[in-house]
Amino acid sequence: MNSELRQLRQRVEVEREFGVTEFSITGTVRKGAVVLAELEEEFKGCTLCGLCRTRTQVVFGEGNPNARLMFVGEAPGFDEDRQGRPFVGAAGQLLTKIIEAMKLKREEVYIANCLKCRPPGNRSPLPSEIAACKPILMKQVEVIRPKVICALGKFAAQTLLQTEEPISRLRGRFFEINGMKIMPTFHPAYLLRNPQDKKLVWEDMKKVMQELRT
Ligand code: URA
Repeated sequence: MNSELRQLRQRVEVEREFGVTEFSITGTVRKGAVVLAELEEEFKGCTLCGLCRTRTQVVFGEGNPNARLMFVGEAPGFDEDRQGRPFVGAAGQLLTKIIEAMKLKREEVYIANCLKCRPPGNRSPLPSEIAACKPILMKQVEVIRPKVICALGKFAAQTLLQTEEPISRLRGRFFEINGMKIMPTFHPAYLLRNPQDKKLVWEDMKKVMQELRT
């Protein structure tokens, strides 16, 4: 190995220790946080679908750009649309409790949604809206490259896994995309209406914790 290559390799190894995940051969190092911030800036005025006419603001996502665990939900609701942050309403409070029960902090994980804008009246996302927004989600996933993605509910699971299978059939087992593990589970909003299924989600989260330990 020549000395230039050795130096480059050393630099990459040191920077990886400090959480740098993106490198370019021109010598410019851009951290995941910078790439995510640029992406957020690029899409804050997004008009790729009709939700731009009814939203208050784009809810890009938040958390640790180097997270090993990422949660993907459906779409912002009333509170998220007002505050510009994902999962801050009643379902969000339950998600926070789940994260803390996993002995993690909200800031340690990354939280995003399939749709970045609130559907009016909290209706379900349309296939055309999911298709328009999916490249942003996939870019977030590509930059963060978590070890595990927990897909919360039908829309997140079906979008990430490109399937029409119902969430009741998908939940509880790992799928793999590009070396990342996907764990579909029930959406916290569903759990608020069906608390008897919380134990199933906890079973799923125990599998996630085990995978994060490996
Ligand atoms: N439900 C979601 O799917 N995402 C949010 O951000 C809030 C509620």
